[in-house]
Amino acid sequence: EIYMKANITLIPGDGIGPEIIREAKKVLEAVADAYDHEFIFTEIDMGGCSIDKYGVPLTDEAIEIAKKSDAVLLGAVGGDVGNSRWYDVAPNLRPEAGLLKIRKELGLFANLRPATLYPKLVSACPLKEEIAERGFDMVIVRELTGGLYFGERYTKEVDGVKTAVDTLVYNENEIRRVAKVAFDIAMTREKKKVTSVDKANVLDSSRLWRSVVEEVAKEYPEVTLEHMLVDNAAMQLVKEPRQFDVMLTENMFGDILSDEASMIAGSIGMLPSASLGEGSFGLYEPSHGSAPDIAGKNKANPLATILSAAMLLRHSLGLLEEAQRIEDTVEDVLDSNYRTWDLKSPGIKVLKTSQMGDIVSEWLTEAT
Ligand code: NAI
Ligand code: MG
Repeated sequence: EIYMKANITLIPGDGIGPEIIREAKKVLEAVADAYDHEFIFTEIDMGGCSIDKYGVPLTDEAIEIAKKSDAVLLGAVGGDVGNSRWYDVAPNLRPEAGLLKIRKELGLFANLRPATLYPKLVSACPLKEEIAERGFDMVIVRELTGGLYFGERYTKEVDGVKTAVDTLVYNENEIRRVAKVAFDIAMTREKKKVTSVDKANVLDSSRLWRSVVEEVAKEYPEVTLEHMLVDNAAMQLVKEPRQFDVMLTENMFGDILSDEASMIAGSIGMLPSASLGEGSFGLYEPSHGSAPDIAGKNKANPLATILSAAMLLRHSLGLLEEAQRIEDTVEDVLDSNYRTWDLKSPGIKVLKTSQMGDIVSEWLTEAT
């Protein structure tokens, strides 16, 4: 084994953030021990805890620390814990402003959300049993810093009628770089298939999207590319989710489709995510928020964060075997009917947040 030394920035945040980050760190430490790596963790404040200490959701010093590291693992920000009065402050001082700032400053233009239905969680899937039982395992790659959400917008009066305008703009460079991320991911997967989702029958930006994606595909002869219109993609996700491997799409389509995909995958407490830019740097976080309703109770499901740590190992550190080991261990734990409270059902053993982190770390160590 190659000895690897890596700097990982941890952002516990607030709400359940510190509880779930603690467990993910435990698992990363178990990986380091098992494979002779050295992970150096540096914690920074973001969100309410930073507002309490420094008056802003994220300081420039904290951003510098994150930038110098190899990757960032984030818990969640938001919620109402502690003694801050965030709801009284301006939007740029809201805890979530820290998240937008860090994404922007670090140039994270590709958002990855895997949606996997674990065999043991089939009953948590809202799809018809015969579809759910076949399972699925896909990754959505959503463009994160362009498109409709970043285009020019204004409201004006046209002949006395109030009119609002949003613009959807993409240039070929923005499309190419996110397409490459999708194809690179496809190369690491068994099916090696990219489904590019657009609305090329209507939108010019989608026609450009399609032609640039086809250009990129030429560099990846082993990957199968298919195009799908977004309305059809929304239907196919619930009809036959198994057909998807890597789904590539622009910002707004990805926003909607990734939420749809997360619902059919069962619990929000299971879903990791990654935001990537040029190079190997990335920011990894669970898809859920700070869950203030269960914060401080040792109840939260830490698996989304633990699976985000696995993505960090794979994408930012190139530690494929270690990432797979985490994912396999999580599946073993589920197969043995251990769950946190959010996935409580008859016949299962309910674990606290910290017990779930313990069992994943222990089983991972034993299996290596
Ligand atoms: P949420 O995801 O925090 O919670 C929704 C529901 O899911 C709650 O009932 C919660 O208890 C449950 N839940 C979430 N994560 C869980 C876990 N790991 N284990 C078990 N149950 C879990 O979304 P909500 O309530 O809309 O937002 C709460 C706060 O989080 C808000 O301030 C929001 O702005 C912030 N937020 C932050 C995000 C981030 O840091 N990236 C993303 C989404 C929301
Ligand atoms: Mg979100």
